[in-house]
Amino acid sequence: MRGGLDDRPIPRPRPTIVMGAAALLDDLSAGELERLAAVVRERSGLAFGEARWPFLRNRARAMVARAGFTSTRRWLDELVASAERRGALYCEMEEALQVHETSFFRYPEHHGALREQILPGLVRPGAPRIRIASVGCSTGEEAYSIAMTVREGEARRAGPTPEILGLDVSRQALGLAVAGAYPESRLGTVPHEYRSRYFVPAAGALTVAPALRQMVRFRHHDIRRGFYLGRFDVIFCCNVLLYFTPVVKHQVLNQLADALTEGGYLFLGHAEGVAPSESSFVTRGLPAPFLYQRLGRHPATVALSRHA
Ligand SMILES: C[S@@+](CC[C@H](N)C(=O)[O-])C[C@H]1O[C@@H](n2cnc3c(N)ncnc32)[C@H](O)[C@@H]1O
Repeated sequence: MRGGLDDRPIPRPRPTIVMGAAALLDDLSAGELERLAAVVRERSGLAFGEARWPFLRNRARAMVARAGFTSTRRWLDELVASAERRGALYCEMEEALQVHETSFFRYPEHHGALREQILPGLVRPGAPRIRIASVGCSTGEEAYSIAMTVREGEARRAGPTPEILGLDVSRQALGLAVAGAYPESRLGTVPHEYRSRYFVPAAGALTVAPALRQMVRFRHHDIRRGFYLGRFDVIFCCNVLLYFTPVVKHQVLNQLADALTEGGYLFLGHAEGVAPSESSFVTRGLPAPFLYQRLGRHPATVALSRHA
């Protein structure tokens, strides 16, 4: 299905943080936060060191209030039990712990490299249709930015239009990505001339134009649980790995390597990295590495990042 999710319908997003009611509750103690962080690490592979405890506490407070508990201890006991069976309480907590921060053309240099270095080599007359994934696409800005870069590039005219797939574990974020309607304030990083070309005003927002929408599909997918969507020529996986524990990051990098065609490209965020000496990737884009190219025929063995 083009321009939509080929999975279950997505409920409208709910606010993640409920203010006010939480103040009535006892705060989470350090011991409770530690227990919570351990459950989330073990069950979801998300790293919550002490520096991120204020965020964890905030989200937990909101969850306690929303679920109607009057004791954080009781809530935590229920949550731990729910985590064992991946119950609704735990799934809701996992969703609430995701960070969805994103923007259009978040990394202009990624788009420059895609347009100038990568697409001209891949999109040629007679070449097969190329596939690009935005893994952890959040509310869609990254995937639509890739679509704009593709449409603006000279290479587009040479071969079949690339297929772009946006993937995220969060159904709330995907709901917004599929809707493709953004307040004008979100479009500050979109080049001015693109706005009239690729967005149409609708009900107080700017909506992604059909020409762009046609190029992008969104799909619910948890990257921790394997990658079974075929091979991609280019994968953007920006600002996703940095929230994982080193072990999960390592597994996911291996999966991303397997999901890439030989010679395929991986874009990461600036705070993430692959150690090329011990991996199937070589670094491109030095001195500030953000682009990696997959080499070799064998399943990837990717070293942990120096940031892990
Ligand atoms: C900080 S946003 C990054 C958005 C975009 N890639 C960017 O750099 O602007 C991280 C996104 O990754 C998603 N995410 C986290 N864990 C994931 C997983 N296991 N599988 C797929 N998406 C995941 C989150 O839901 C969130 O929307």
